[in-house]
Amino acid sequence: MTINGSHDGWLGLGPISVEPDRQRSGLGKSLVFAGFDALRQHGAAGVALIGSPKIYSRYGFVSDGHPAKP
Ligand SMILES: CC(C)(COP(=O)(O)OP(=O)(O)OC[C@H]1O[C@@H](n2cnc3c(N)ncnc32)[C@H](O)[C@@H]1OP(=O)(O)O)[C@@H](O)C(=O)NCCC(=O)NCCS
Repeated sequence: MTINGSHDGWLGLGPISVEPDRQRSGLGKSLVFAGFDALRQHGAAGVALIGSPKIYSRYGFVSDGHPAKP
């Protein structure tokens, strides 16, 4: 992905989703960590995504302060 017009080896993660009736049982967390493994194998210098800071801050993501646009 490009950030402010430049590509420095950062890769994007997602979209990630879990069926509503199966949420909050650990599937989302497993998908995030499987994604980290895959991106590491691709030599990612960093990882970015579009998602809720409330959820993704627990994985080390820091919000850029811009709300996601639909
Ligand atoms: C976001 C999403 C993928 C999480 O999947 P999940 O299977 O419910 O997540 P998990 O059960 O693995 O929970 C992972 C952690 O996030 C937390 N969490 C999950 N949903 C949350 C919510 N709505 N609000 C706050 N925290 C939440 C859990 O408490 C858990 O925290 P812990 O590690 O401290 O226990 C799922 O809610 C979803 O599909 N949402 C709709 C699509 C979406 O918003 N995707 C993100 C954009 S890519």
